[in-house]
Amino acid sequence: MHVDPLEKAWVWIVGIITAVMLGSIFYTAFALNVHPPSNVEVIDSTQLHLTEEFAEDKLGVTRNPDGSLTVRIVAGRYGFFPQHVEVPADTPITFRFATPDVLHGLHLPGTNVDTMVIPGFVSQVRTEINYDAVAKVAKKVANGGLRVPIYCNEYCGLGHHFMWSRVTVVPASG
Ligand code: CUA
Repeated sequence: MHVDPLEKAWVWIVGIITAVMLGSIFYTAFALNVHPPSNVEVIDSTQLHLTEEFAEDKLGVTRNPDGSLTVRIVAGRYGFFPQHVEVPADTPITFRFATPDVLHGLHLPGTNVDTMVIPGFVSQVRTEINYDAVAKVAKKVANGGLRVPIYCNEYCGLGHHFMWSRVTVVPASG
């Protein structure tokens, strides 16, 4: 069968592009533990402040009976509330996020936490924060803690680039 050399070259180019794209998906999924968030849970965004879970005094870090943590954060124009949370490294953490207004994104550098926060839904991410991985991107503060910024990475309005807050990761106390 005759295949034109130019056509043959393009078959290879398309094949290589496909292999690189699939390779990067498998690499991030298996080596970096990056998965699409699979939690589907609805919430009335207009009533967040009146809910059992996302009322102002319920936000932040809660320790569960099994030793794991649940961290609840509200992402609203233009900030994350609470403005600062402290969590131990190498401990199972369930992050739960909700927004009272528009679409936001949430990225925690050095971890696999990266999700959209969509009005009407609760975004949930389970993770264990690796101290050494975060140490590469974070600023060290007193008590061995690592100060990591949380960024909004979905355009949400004029204040989007001011939308951030802080997480301090402390070494696991055991
Ligand atoms: Cu919130 Cu961009």
